[in-house]
Amino acid sequence: MIEFIFPLDFDGAEEALLWEEKLEDAADVYKIGLQLFSREGPALVADMVSRKRSVFLDLKIHDIPNTAKKAAQAASFLGVKYLTAHASGGGEMIKAVSEALRGSMTKLLAVTVLTSIDETSFRECYSMESNIEDHVLKLAQAAEESGADGVVCSVREASLIRKSLGDRFLIITPGIRISDKKDDQNRTSGPEDAKRAKVNGIVMGRPVVQSPDPREFVLKIKEYLNEN
Ligand code: C5P
Repeated sequence: MIEFIFPLDFDGAEEALLWEEKLEDAADVYKIGLQLFSREGPALVADMVSRKRSVFLDLKIHDIPNTAKKAAQAASFLGVKYLTAHASGGGEMIKAVSEALRGSMTKLLAVTVLTSIDETSFRECYSMESNIEDHVLKLAQAAEESGADGVVCSVREASLIRKSLGDRFLIITPGIRISDKKDDQNRTSGPEDAKRAKVNGIVMGRPVVQSPDPREFVLKIKEYLNEN
């Protein structure tokens, strides 16, 4: 099954909860990222988990191994389904986070290269001659070796990763668009590409929010993703 993950990229609990009410279980997982977490903290996460919502805590941890481990421990006590850490934090950091999550229900997703980064900004900020695909694959392989359960990447790299790391490795892809409107995303793809690449979940936010009937929109995409 391909999960539909809706990011609660809102400024406060009130708006986030309105969207949860609007979509209910049309969305399989609700993602809480830095925008909402910085306002509402763990209380909102705990509240959603207590109501049996699957929560993806997108903290994108990137720190020295000890700090990363302690942050992951605190997050795992909240009972979230997914937690993110940057693969570029290095093998020791990913290992520390994965150890912190061992025995909990929380799966570690390693963030590879943000879907907002294109080839030009990739070269600028990483000072690298290799292309994004090769780099994402290397990060994914290193993250898997260090104990990550999966990765966050763009659909464009998903097939390569699936081929290299097999069916059990989780691949979650943001940057999904059904029109030319990209917002701040660059490495975008459509739901059909995500389905073809056999990803485990897609993250789709703004296109849902901008649609006239968000719940219907999510249900339609989910049906399409999961029909044979
Ligand atoms: O609104 P949109 O569909 O672009 O939502 C993208 C969401 O996915 C945001 O919450 C963003 O933080 C997250 N994300 C991303 N690229 C990554 C990792 C997470 O866009 N590599």
